[in-house]
Amino acid sequence: MKYPRMKSHFATTMAVLLLTFATVDVYAGDVGKGGRIYAQHCVICHGADGVNVMPDAPNFAQSESLLRPDQFIMTAIKEGKNAMPAFQGMLKDEEILDVIAYLRTLENGGPMRP
Ligand code: HEC
Repeated sequence: MKYPRMKSHFATTMAVLLLTFATVDVYAGDVGKGGRIYAQHCVICHGADGVNVMPDAPNFAQSESLLRPDQFIMTAIKEGKNAMPAFQGMLKDEEILDVIAYLRTLENGGPMRP
């Protein structure tokens, strides 16, 4: 006995689920891509593990600056501040979200950990 209608319903459900996860993933940023962007643009001041090389830069390994929403951090990265260069026009919004997702992996043991 076959259940063709159930089968197609299952396929649709799976497609919707996959799409949902894919969308959420893109929105949350890609840690792998973010790591490459970080190595290219941020590591000289913020250091390999997020432990700042430059004295005035925040230490991302234990930083309050990551206790804020992505949107807020994105604005900070776009506009820059004092010795921190502005990345508006240099990085796309999606790339900034990738790098923020990466920054969040540097923080260890803090309240941001899911
Ligand atoms: C030339 C050195 C330099 C580079 C390159 C740099 N930063 Fe910074 N960054 C700083 C300094 C210095 C500060 C502290 C600014 C202040 O509060 O005066 C800072 C602050 C920040 C903050 C905290 C902002 C806030 O409002 O608390 C974030 C987030 C950040 N940087 C992310 C990045 C990312 C992501 C990159 C790469 C795309 C990057 N930075 C590249 C020097 C740098």
